[in-house]
Amino acid sequence: MLNDRVTLRDGRIVLVREVESRDGPGMVQLRREVAHERAYTLLEPDEVDARAPGMLRDLSVTDPNELRLLARCGERDDDVIADLTLGTKHFRRIAHVAKLGMEIRKDFRGAGLGDAMLRIALAWAAAHPVISRVELQVFADNARAIALYRKHGFVEEGRRRKYMRVGDTYLDDLVMGMLVKPL
Ligand SMILES: CC(C)(COP(=O)(O)OP(=O)(O)OC[C@H]1O[C@@H](n2cnc3c(N)ncnc32)[C@H](O)[C@@H]1OP(=O)(O)O)[C@@H](O)C(=O)NCCC(=O)NCCS
Repeated sequence: MLNDRVTLRDGRIVLVREVESRDGPGMVQLRREVAHERAYTLLEPDEVDARAPGMLRDLSVTDPNELRLLARCGERDDDVIADLTLGTKHFRRIAHVAKLGMEIRKDFRGAGLGDAMLRIALAWAAAHPVISRVELQVFADNARAIALYRKHGFVEEGRRRKYMRVGDTYLDDLVMGMLVKPL
């Protein structure tokens, strides 16, 4: 089980570890909060709520081809401050491809937590017996996320024009990928 204490750039110390069932309510709350910003995630807040029961059920299932990480600043539900998921689909031809998603609560951004969690996740992927490619999608205007992914070796592999509609505005997104071990 991964379990690390991480000191952020501003001196705060947080715990990064694999998700447990009891983290469910805190994770739903985090995802809802980030969705309410209406800037970075695919899901609208009501869609987060609609998917919450399935997400809570999934947390009780462990899958060797999926890493679910979170960060906590304390033990209360609302102390879940970040989550990261990296996992494969179960089709054999793309079993080596893992998809990444991550989000950090607003007041913990820009302090190196994303960097630390991504480093842990990519080391896990590199050590995994099957995974060799990691990919993600990111809104084209999400400069901080794109900078972080580039720093860790992701390259832009495609741009989907007008991929998302947020209110009346259409936004492009980028598909980014990296190979975590030679093939
Ligand atoms: C994107 C996200 C995961 C990054 O995590 P984070 O903890 O804020 O990021 P970090 O502090 O570790 O690093 C961000 C890097 O981007 C840089 N950065 C910050 N703002 C930037 C900007 N506007 N343009 C370019 N680079 C920027 C930082 O300097 C830092 O690089 P450095 O470590 O070389 O100094 C986090 O901000 C987040 O959850 N955002 C909202 C949800 C989201 O966007 N999720 C990703 C969807 S694909």
